[in-house]
Amino acid sequence: MEKDIYILGIESSCDETSVAVVKNGREVLSNIINSQIKIHENYGGVVPEIASRCHTEVINRIMKESLKTANVCLNDIDAIAVTQGPGLVGALLVGVSYAKGLSYVTKKPLVAVNHIEGHIAGNYLTHKDLKPPFICLIISGGHTHLVNVKSYNDFEILGKTRDDAVGEAFDKVARVVGLGYPGGPKVDNLAKEGEPNIKLPITHFDNLDFSFSGIKTAVINLNHKTPNINKADLCASFQLAVTTMLESNVRKAIKEYHSDKIVIAGGVSRNSFIRKSFDDLAKDLNIKVYYPEPILCTDNAAMIAASGYYNYINGERAKLNLNAIPNLKIGE
Ligand code: KG4
Ligand code: ZN
Repeated sequence: MEKDIYILGIESSCDETSVAVVKNGREVLSNIINSQIKIHENYGGVVPEIASRCHTEVINRIMKESLKTANVCLNDIDAIAVTQGPGLVGALLVGVSYAKGLSYVTKKPLVAVNHIEGHIAGNYLTHKDLKPPFICLIISGGHTHLVNVKSYNDFEILGKTRDDAVGEAFDKVARVVGLGYPGGPKVDNLAKEGEPNIKLPITHFDNLDFSFSGIKTAVINLNHKTPNINKADLCASFQLAVTTMLESNVRKAIKEYHSDKIVIAGGVSRNSFIRKSFDDLAKDLNIKVYYPEPILCTDNAAMIAASGYYNYINGERAKLNLNAIPNLKIGE
């Protein structure tokens, strides 16, 4: 029997400090997440300097809690996986420095993880049978990517946003209609009470890129010019238009790459309307659709440990001069 591999994952790219223990890349033994949402809520968005300070304050406690919950000690860990980027540089540096210190002291190998690849790997934890190749749509607060996942370590970007990320547009829309931060879940809930009866601009390109700044601006202007506009209808219409744009590129990619599955990842994949729409699309195209369970959609360290596992068994090791890369590209 092969030896089990335990990866300690560390995530601090934005406003969640998280440490997790994952067995064999598929089984979550612990996934402790300390969200700073309550703090950043007061400012209407993430304040980078505050995020870094909060990470520093809690990271050691979260690490200990994670080991305790998983019922393992540092000695049982095979490697330490940490988010190297993309993300806020100060926030990333807390996790990277902590992981390097831990690696030095314990003499355990250090593995660098790309946060976007981590989001994709979140699906491996929910769906034990899921294996590449597949097409993946990553929709989060900072990223909107359509990726051909050729293997666990080989990624080809098919399309990405040319301006705002989907989650960014959700958060902005929520703010202008007065729902507060973080907006995604609030737009999702309010939209359930409305009808998608307001026409909003849809942007398409010849390739598989996306653009959400046009629809974001249209919602801001409409809300400004029509103060009595039905906010629930506006949210429902916004979600429909965004989903139409996402679906259109996914359909093209599925056709072009003859894929029989679509995998969705990232914080916005928690959205109930988007899930329902992709369920329908999958039925229509006779393909399978996968989403991570909700807690693995938004930022967490279990997905970083899962991605780190595949980097680790691929022989990838980081040195102690590892640096955070705020604009790290997928596949780099
Ligand atoms: O993946 P994530 O935690 O962070 C990034 O890597 O960016 O995603 C956070 C984003 C936020 O923009 C948040 O508003 C959005 O995910 N989000 C949602 C929902 N839940 C979280 N957007 C739409 N509907 C939701 N239910
Ligand atoms: Zn993320």
